[in-house]
Amino acid sequence: MDSDDHVCLCFRVSLRKIRAYMKREDPPVASLISDCLDAGTGCQWCVPFLKELHRQHEAGIEPDLKVSPQEYAEGRLRYHKTGERDVEAGEAGDDGAARDGAGG
Ligand code: FES
Repeated sequence: MDSDDHVCLCFRVSLRKIRAYMKREDPPVASLISDCLDAGTGCQWCVPFLKELHRQHEAGIEPDLKVSPQEYAEGRLRYHKTGERDVEAGEAGDDGAARDGAGG
């Protein structure tokens, strides 16, 4: 996700704003991110993603979501229709870059 992409689509809160908020306020719990332009207080779709971003912030890594904005927005629409989540928040997970085998 790029920093100008919206994480909270209900309130149009970008990844950039959430990063800046966490840097500035260092919130102890993810739910306080709602102080940032009401992120997460609408349909709730973005809540697991906000938690993941907060987890990354706590771990000292640049918060990011490994999902395209399109996939993210489509997943939200399906969530609204079915109540099911099929886009994982934790895909950014651990630092996979450490695994750099020679392929054999
Ligand atoms: S997308 Fe954030 S509350 Fe709906």
